[in-house]
Amino acid sequence: MSEPLLSVREIHTYYGDSYVLQGVSLDLHEGRIVAILGRNGMGKTTLIRSVAGLTPPREGDVIFKGRSLRGQPPYAIAQQGMAIVPQGRRIFRSLSVRENLLLPTSRLARPSGAAAADGQRKVWDLDEVLKEFPQLAERIDHPGAALSGGEQQMLAVGRALMANPDLILMDEPSEGLAPRLVQQIEEIMKNVREHGHAILLVEQNFALAMAVADFIYVVASGRFVFHGTPQELWGAAEILDHHLGVSGGGP
Ligand SMILES: Nc1ncnc2c1ncn2[C@@H]1O[C@H](COP(=O)(O)OP(=O)(O)OP(=O)(O)O)[C@@H](O)[C@H]1O
Ligand SMILES: [Mg+2]
Repeated sequence: MSEPLLSVREIHTYYGDSYVLQGVSLDLHEGRIVAILGRNGMGKTTLIRSVAGLTPPREGDVIFKGRSLRGQPPYAIAQQGMAIVPQGRRIFRSLSVRENLLLPTSRLARPSGAAAADGQRKVWDLDEVLKEFPQLAERIDHPGAALSGGEQQMLAVGRALMANPDLILMDEPSEGLAPRLVQQIEEIMKNVREHGHAILLVEQNFALAMAVADFIYVVASGRFVFHGTPQELWGAAEILDHHLGVSGGGP
């Protein structure tokens, strides 16, 4: 198999004296979805922050496209082709949908075309994002605050796409959404993968992760206690029961 797009190698991440990620490693290949499942406070957001350079690991390394990200600030990492859809969506509530979408192009986006250097991938711009999310097109001049939770999540994904990233980090996109909207998020993620972007998804929503992920890691207290395919996770009764609160095996 080709070299991974993202390789997290034995990272240890702290907040001050608080030791959160205790030797975590993972690989993510181009165009794949890898999900990290785990309960509250287990270190999922910390993993995303470690990869994006927001809370750099104290030990270990993160390799993106074959290069170490050590010592690089978040904006420099973003420019190399990584975008975040943060937990709680964090769109700009007072700015319009259009303004929210256009923000990253002013600061973070790479020259259009860099993203699609292989000539295969779509180059996202405002028109393309609005085509992908017609609900946002209808509300283009509304402030972010006027959008429903599901629409805000679409906006957060659309904003990430505007940077034409190779990798999107998504932190609990289903949080607080009704089942119908979670279904929509599932479709969006599958579409984004179809377009050739890789996704590192962290979730507590077991069904969503199982439905979209090519590979799953389960985190508990800052360590991975399982890695395998969704199929293999179904067979790991003890992990399901102890770490995910899911009982019984089989799809
Ligand atoms: N800024 C911080 N300073 C100190 N401790 C923190 C900070 N952020 C998180 N923690 C602690 O680190 C641990 C992991 O937190 P993290 O936010 O990564 O969990 P999580 O898996 O994303 O949880 P959730 O599902 O609730 O979002 C928790 O014990 C949390 O209290
Ligand atoms: Mg979190």
